[in-house]
Amino acid sequence: MTARDIDPLRQHLENRYGAQAPQLPPPDGGLNPVLDTLLSHRTVRAFDPARPLAGGTIEWLVAAAQSAASSSNLQTWSVVAVEDTDRKARLSHLVGDQAAVREAPLVLVWIADLSRLQALATHHQVPLDGAPYLDTFLMAVVDAALAAQNAVVAAESLGLGTCYIGAIRNRSQEVAAELGLVPGTFATFGLCVGHPDARRPAAVKPRLPQAAVLSREQFVPTAPEPHVSGYDSTMAAFYTAQGLPVNAWSTHSLARLHGPEALKGRHLLTDALGAHGIGLR
Ligand SMILES: Cc1cc2nc3c(=O)[nH]c(=O)nc-3n(C[C@H](O)[C@H](O)[C@H](O)COP(=O)(O)O)c2cc1C
Repeated sequence: MTARDIDPLRQHLENRYGAQAPQLPPPDGGLNPVLDTLLSHRTVRAFDPARPLAGGTIEWLVAAAQSAASSSNLQTWSVVAVEDTDRKARLSHLVGDQAAVREAPLVLVWIADLSRLQALATHHQVPLDGAPYLDTFLMAVVDAALAAQNAVVAAESLGLGTCYIGAIRNRSQEVAAELGLVPGTFATFGLCVGHPDARRPAAVKPRLPQAAVLSREQFVPTAPEPHVSGYDSTMAAFYTAQGLPVNAWSTHSLARLHGPEALKGRHLLTDALGAHGIGLR
């Protein structure tokens, strides 16, 4: 059997879970285009400079984003589409000089947005005393994330590649000034969008085994052995196959949260949110 003969479902599972991929019965109806798109996801950081986005792309991505569920249908998110070369360069600088932000034809910045309801309350001269609470902010962030992920899936279904930019929170006040944000808004993450550069392709990155993330009926915490160590081996094989230096997931993940300095400015977010007019009671 050649690689080309492998059942596409099996291939998806092996790409996503490595050599320890589970044996699963096929989903009802077999592989469909939505599952195919979802299981093929990979972050794209290299974009084809010769291929601009087709007209209407932003609007279709936003239509997909607005099709996501929204808590109480409050739709507490907005998105800023950045295409200007100079603004992308300045944003790239603010997120640690990430080249993808400079090179992508489009950067969508997803905003947790309570300002719309605040303006509505002012207009109707009614209080909005439920706004300055942690749950309200969480609701806006969750809504923004669901919307963004719908846009990601839509983009990938159109043959585009995307890269989330959480580093947009590193220097949130400067990002807010760059984007002209108003009180009650917060740039949650960016999303680079463009045609993947075929000369610098990205691969599907394996995930933890399902046994590490899926509990049934009651939560089962994941012990480091055997799932995490097994995943470290899977990721080592992945990086080796990609010709990249091996960086064990355990090492990388523990370093990422080793101390406040590892948060690269985001450890000051509570204060920054206050400055953005967002309360967290
Ligand atoms: C909220 C969020 C923020 C992220 N921020 C960045 C970022 O600032 N820079 C970057 O290169 N990738 C970023 N990523 C991409 C992750 O590194 C990537 O999703 C992860 O390594 C898994 O790889 P995959 O998406 O190819 O499966 C972010 C992903 C998410 C979900």
